[in-house]
Amino acid sequence: MLNIAVVGCGYWGPNLIRNFNSLSDCQVKLACDTDPARLAHMNELYAALDTTYDFNDLLENDEIDAVAIATPVRFHFEMAKKILLAGKHTFIEKPMAGSTKECEELITLAQKQNLTLMVGHTFIYSSSVRKIKDIVNHDDLGEIQYISSQRLNLGLFQTDINVVWDLAPHDVSIILYVLGKMPTGVNCQGKAHITEGIEDVTNMTLSFANGAIAMVQSSWLDPNKIRNMTFVGKKRMLIYDDTQPLEKIKIYDKRVEVPPHYDTFAEFHYSYHYGDMYCPYIKQEEPLKRECQEFLDCIKTGAKSQSSGVEGLKVVQILEAATESLKKSGAEVEIFLPR
Ligand SMILES: NC(=O)c1ccc[n+]([C@@H]2O[C@H](COP(=O)([O-])OP(=O)(O)OC[C@H]3O[C@@H](n4cnc5c(N)ncnc54)[C@H](O)[C@@H]3O)[C@@H](O)[C@H]2O)c1
Repeated sequence: MLNIAVVGCGYWGPNLIRNFNSLSDCQVKLACDTDPARLAHMNELYAALDTTYDFNDLLENDEIDAVAIATPVRFHFEMAKKILLAGKHTFIEKPMAGSTKECEELITLAQKQNLTLMVGHTFIYSSSVRKIKDIVNHDDLGEIQYISSQRLNLGLFQTDINVVWDLAPHDVSIILYVLGKMPTGVNCQGKAHITEGIEDVTNMTLSFANGAIAMVQSSWLDPNKIRNMTFVGKKRMLIYDDTQPLEKIKIYDKRVEVPPHYDTFAEFHYSYHYGDMYCPYIKQEEPLKRECQEFLDCIKTGAKSQSSGVEGLKVVQILEAATESLKKSGAEVEIFLPR
């Protein structure tokens, strides 16, 4: 039985507490937040839960084996570093930290301390994303030519990070997971309409060595909640709409082909293929529960998580490149592959 502490009990932290508590091989012993109202709320939900507003309490508590961080990103690095130095396994919500340098330091420290370091890339644990990876791995779509991803809604506005750092970690972690490779370059354009200096609408393009591109649109300034991804392969196309309750994935047997050779312009015509659309059955399970279970399993077995610190670093490397590109009005920023 592993004892867990959760720091940060705002919007997301309570979901971590609920999911860890639903697993048979751990219990959430301690919750930490600087806001007494959040701690009071946690105690209303879980009467037996110890609470503290002092982060040092969880570092000094020998009963705690592992800590999950669900605070704003500006606290991730300092907190994770202290937790690892205190000899506790560490789970950090996305994005892992504020820079690649910080991520590198945490990865090295976790290795040195022989501790599990995992990042909350929740979507790669969703049944839909797993299904998409399966479909792509089986070459059902053919070689992926482009991916288009939109994550739009009204709010929630952040004041310390822009919309790329808030929303795009989801899209980027899904894209890296499905394609299994890093892009070679990143372009990003955006605008700050509401809070000065904090972009609330962005458009990022990831370019891959084989010519594929992925376009990621992120917005806090949209009338509708949109969670849409399109995967266009040479053979088929797939649409993933995460807002749908049941039919989240649709596969379209559609493609366009150019004739291999032609002699006159009159002979030239594209060949459009319009086939069936099918919608695979997907058994839904809460992704966060799977993610929490994987954290516990990695602690027990020493196995590497599918969203390890190294995966967290890759996502932050792309976010960092996007930030640099934003400053250069969308110019391409090259990605140097980590480790
Ligand atoms: N995986 C996901 O799908 C998902 C979804 C939402 C948020 N998140 C991530 O979770 C993290 C938290 O996001 P949120 O939306 O819950 O933020 P939030 O602002 O709602 O909550 C953060 C909480 O941390 C507390 N806090 C701040 N500084 C603290 C400190 N020094 N010590 C202890 N507590 C402190 C605040 O009082 C607040 O209650 C972010 O990294 C975010 O990106 C992940």
